[in-house]
Amino acid sequence: MAPPSRGKAAYAGIEESAQLGWRTLDGDGNTLQNNQGSFPQDDSVFAAKLPFGDPMHPDVVALREHMAENNGIPGLTVIDGQAVLEDDELAKRAAAIFHRDGFVAVSRALVGDDLTRMQEASDKQVREMMALDPFRVGNRGSHRYSFGGASHTGHCSHVAEWAELLFDNEVTRRIMKHIFDSENYICRGGGGDFCLAGSVEYQGLHQDMGDPVGNADPNEEPVIGIRDGPPPACTCNYAMQDLTPVNGPIRQVPGTHTHRAPGGRFNAPNVQDEPEWMKMSTVLVPAGSCVMRDVRCWHGGTPNLSQEERCLPNAEFLAPWFWENMQHSMPREIYDKLSPHGQLTCRYIVADEDEHIPVGYRMNAEAKGGLEHAFHESDEASPLSYEEDSASIWKDFVARKTQASKL
Ligand SMILES: [Fe+2]
Repeated sequence: MAPPSRGKAAYAGIEESAQLGWRTLDGDGNTLQNNQGSFPQDDSVFAAKLPFGDPMHPDVVALREHMAENNGIPGLTVIDGQAVLEDDELAKRAAAIFHRDGFVAVSRALVGDDLTRMQEASDKQVREMMALDPFRVGNRGSHRYSFGGASHTGHCSHVAEWAELLFDNEVTRRIMKHIFDSENYICRGGGGDFCLAGSVEYQGLHQDMGDPVGNADPNEEPVIGIRDGPPPACTCNYAMQDLTPVNGPIRQVPGTHTHRAPGGRFNAPNVQDEPEWMKMSTVLVPAGSCVMRDVRCWHGGTPNLSQEERCLPNAEFLAPWFWENMQHSMPREIYDKLSPHGQLTCRYIVADEDEHIPVGYRMNAEAKGGLEHAFHESDEASPLSYEEDSASIWKDFVARKTQASKL
């Protein structure tokens, strides 16, 4: 395939829309980047570290065309979130799909002014983070970011829109009631992720939780693991833009939430070995949709080869029976505005009276020797820790199962 013309016309549009992504181009399609390390301290310029740092590079063009043609889970069922509010049978169906596939796509979880409000709020947070990372180093790979990973509290619970519209969302509440068979589930916080135009790499498939269960005796193959029980947690990611084949939609591999290799270990393939169909197993839904994910289900980010940012803020919930130590991340004044049920779910993350919650994003990059270090230091899916009681319940359970397997 011949590379496209590098003239002005080929870059029309990209030039205008590259404010947060691909390197800024001049009128002739030349980049304004200086690889010697002298960059204008300007939000519109980044230093590409990859050969793919050019939206019209032949490899990028070829991958974009391939994704445009093949991306998306064929026949994906999308549940109408607004209809769920009127029909509990539909909420049950959504929960059944979640249990079957490890996730469920729900459209219209945010609509109208609520969607606009959340789009503006997440955009504001994106720009706050970008002011700290002018070279788009990212904290989940180049041009790819975790809100929580950069936040001082690990969450965005201090942002009113996250709390009111995502943590306290009525559509997901109706569905989670059936996912957990209880309304006493727990909000542990939430952040989410975004990727800029120019995040050209696949994020490896992963799950968002370690396996705290299958280690009764580290010298023995575990008999039972976290994949053998009901969903321990549900993360709800909300699309702020339409998720298209080329703008970095989330990929979810159906059914992997209960998959286990011999020994119960997590064994998702790395990107090099990943089958093509898994790379194309993406959730394409309109803005305002929510992807409700069992955190055990294999998932990952995909390249954003469009000209715009793709943003998926989230809310994270634990099953009523599941416990982890939670940091207070929600100021009282935010909590006070939630519904009674929203307050119930946020009971473990709300600040005590007069407790100060440090909010904002990491600012100490210089002192630590550069932004890259500061960003990469952020906690990548840190293993969960457990209260003694919960841990011992599981240990007893695993010990009994182990014993039984030897009979
Ligand atoms: Fe993840």
